[in-house]
Parts: sequence; C-alpha cells; structure tokens
Amino acid sequence: MLTVQNLNLKTLVLPVNSVVSGFEQIQVAARVIQRGGLVAFPTETVYGLGANALDSVAVLALFKAKNRPLDNPPILHVSDVNQVYQFVGEVPRNAGVLMRQFWPGPLTLVFKRSEALPKESTAGLDTVAVRMPNHSVALALIKQSGVPIAAPSANLSGNPSPTLAQHVYDDLAGKIDVILDGGSTSIGVESTVLDLSVNPPVLLRPGGVSFEAIRAVLPDVVLHPFVISEQEVTVKQARSPGMMHKHYAPNAEVILVEGNLSEMINKIIDLSEQYICEGKKVGVLATDETRNKYFGCTVKSMGSRSNLNLIAGNLFKELRAFNITSVDVILAESVPLDGIGLAVMNRLRKASGYNIIKA
Ligand code: TXA
Ligand code: MG
Repeated sequence: MLTVQNLNLKTLVLPVNSVVSGFEQIQVAARVIQRGGLVAFPTETVYGLGANALDSVAVLALFKAKNRPLDNPPILHVSDVNQVYQFVGEVPRNAGVLMRQFWPGPLTLVFKRSEALPKESTAGLDTVAVRMPNHSVALALIKQSGVPIAAPSANLSGNPSPTLAQHVYDDLAGKIDVILDGGSTSIGVESTVLDLSVNPPVLLRPGGVSFEAIRAVLPDVVLHPFVISEQEVTVKQARSPGMMHKHYAPNAEVILVEGNLSEMINKIIDLSEQYICEGKKVGVLATDETRNKYFGCTVKSMGSRSNLNLIAGNLFKELRAFNITSVDVILAESVPLDGIGLAVMNRLRKASGYNIIKA
C-alpha cells in the first residue's frame, strides 16, 4: 500500500503515455501527494520530485530523500495562473507579459513570497520561485492534487538531473513513493530562473528559455555574473542558493576544455594522451562532428553541433552514462554560448567544478 514517505519504501513505477490512457495512474499519484508522499513526474525540462508545497512535513521529506541542503528551496509548480496570485506576495507588472508569452514552459519566476506558504517551501527566503510546466502529465498531476507542488529536479543532490524515469529510479528508488514514467523529457536542461523581485530583473540560471528570448520582451533584464562565470561563486555573491552547491557531476572527474573547435580538439587529444600514459582511463564528451577524432578513449556524443537543442537534450543522459563505464577522467568539449548553449555551458562548467582548461 502507498504510505507517507519513509525510508526503504517500495517505489511504484507507473507508466503514463498520455493523460487519457494514464489518468488512473495520475490520480493514484495525486492521492499520494495529498497524503504527504513524494512523486517523481516528467516535465518538459527534467523529471521533478514533487510534494505538497503546503505541507511542511512532506517538503522536509523531499529534502531528505534527495539529500538536498536545507538552504536550497524547491520551485513551486502550478497548473493555473490564479495559483500565482494565491501563493505569491507581490506580482510585479512585468510578470504578466512573461507568463502569457512563456507559460506553460521552461521559465521559473522569482517573486516576493506570501505568508500562505510554509517556510520549508521557500527555505526561509523572502522570495518564492514559481513555474507552470509545459507537460500534460505534470499539469494533470498538479490539477488533480489540488495544491501547488514543490519540486526540485528528481536526482540525488549533486548528480546530473534526470531526463528519464530510469535516472530517477537509479537515484531515488526506495526513498520515494511513486515515479510517473512519461518517457524522455524533451528539453533536457532545467528551466531558466528569472528574479522579478528586484529591479532590473536578473536571470539567475540559464535554461530552456534563452536570455535572448526574454530580452525581446523584457529589454532591461540582466544576466547574473555567475551565469557566465568561469569560477565558483562565493556565498556573498549568490542570489540563488543553488548557485553555490555542487551540481551535475558524474562519478569521474570532469575537465571542460574551452576554445575554438580545432584548438579544443587538439587540446583534448593532448590531454587524453597524457592521462593514458599515466595509466588512466579517459572518457571524452564529444559531438557528432568530432567523435572520430579521439582514440583510446571512451567517446560519447551529445549530438550534432548544428543543433544545440539536441545537445541540451542529451547532455545529462551522456554524463550519467559515463557512470557505467570505468573512466577515471572525462574530457568535455564546450559549445557556443548562443541560445540554449548558455545553459549547456553553465551545466558543463558546474559539472567540472570549474575545472576549465583554455585551448
Ligand atoms: O526545470 C526545472 O526547473 C526543474 C523541473 C522539475 O521543474 N526543476 C529544477 O529544480 O531544476 P531545482 O530545485 O533542481 O532547481 C531550482 C533552482 C535552484 O537553483 C534554486 O536555488 C533556485 O531554483 N531557486 C529556488 N527558489 C529560489 C528563490 N526564491 N530565489 C532564487 N532562486 C531560487
Ligand atoms: Mg536540481
């Protein structure tokens, strides 16, 4: 029987191919949310791990299952714009155009919080991050639950985010009640986080909606320096707690090589030869155009350089795939910073712990 979140649970995996054929499964999952349990569900970005945002005990269980630092708040997921007005203290004027243009979709907006939310749901901050996901299963789950769903990505803290139900299972089986398996997520990197509680608005995390697209409707938006930083941010500079924490790392050490394409390839070849001489097993996170350049290494491709969206979609899956190889070090290629490339590079820099080599 499904119970409130506990250690050593049997995690139920329920396939949902569509809201119509999977409606019963979604209803089961919604009841689990209502009873204070934990449900992993697909969104268009990555899988989320959901709990009733109004239930502080459930939200604390969520942190525990993920081993997430308590200072890093989850995003509140809503299925209806009215919920924003219910759970947010102050909705600034510029929010309307963004919600109309980008919701449902991969844009998270940070607002001043309201007292209607327990402090656990906002990790004690005076702001709250909200988004409406563009995924029919996620929207149906939120609607059926009848409450906003607090949901960080459904991975163990520090691991790459899950883009398949299998990734969620690998990290969280036995720690959560239900996984709704809706197949592969389409975007593959998380939502863009935009802080509207300050003026001018600040983009805190690049993601599924590009900086360029936001600037087209909000010309005064600025990038937080951390977004393009090639160094770790200090606590004082962090506007978003997630900026400080270890992220996206596979088991092996990651080294990110940045530079123009041919110099980058040559640098990776040099480095791989050095490591192989030292007796190390080397992985290379490459692209379709470059994968044949590397020898004596385990090479994985993120996709073609002609389509950064595909690269974003494959990034976390390929980083995780190195965990079932025996490589000691992963040499990662960089990609251009345009569009969703900014989000990909931000994830790669964090995955490397800012271990970046310029070619
Ligand atoms: O695409 C996504 O956003 C996915 C799916 C499941 O919706 N969720 C996700 O959640 O990536 P999470 O918890 O892994 O990342 C949320 C980010 C963290 O960096 C956190 O620090 C930041 O949002 N955040 C949450 N509340 C915030 C707030 N009030 N102010 C600033 N940043 C906040
Ligand atoms: Mg996360």
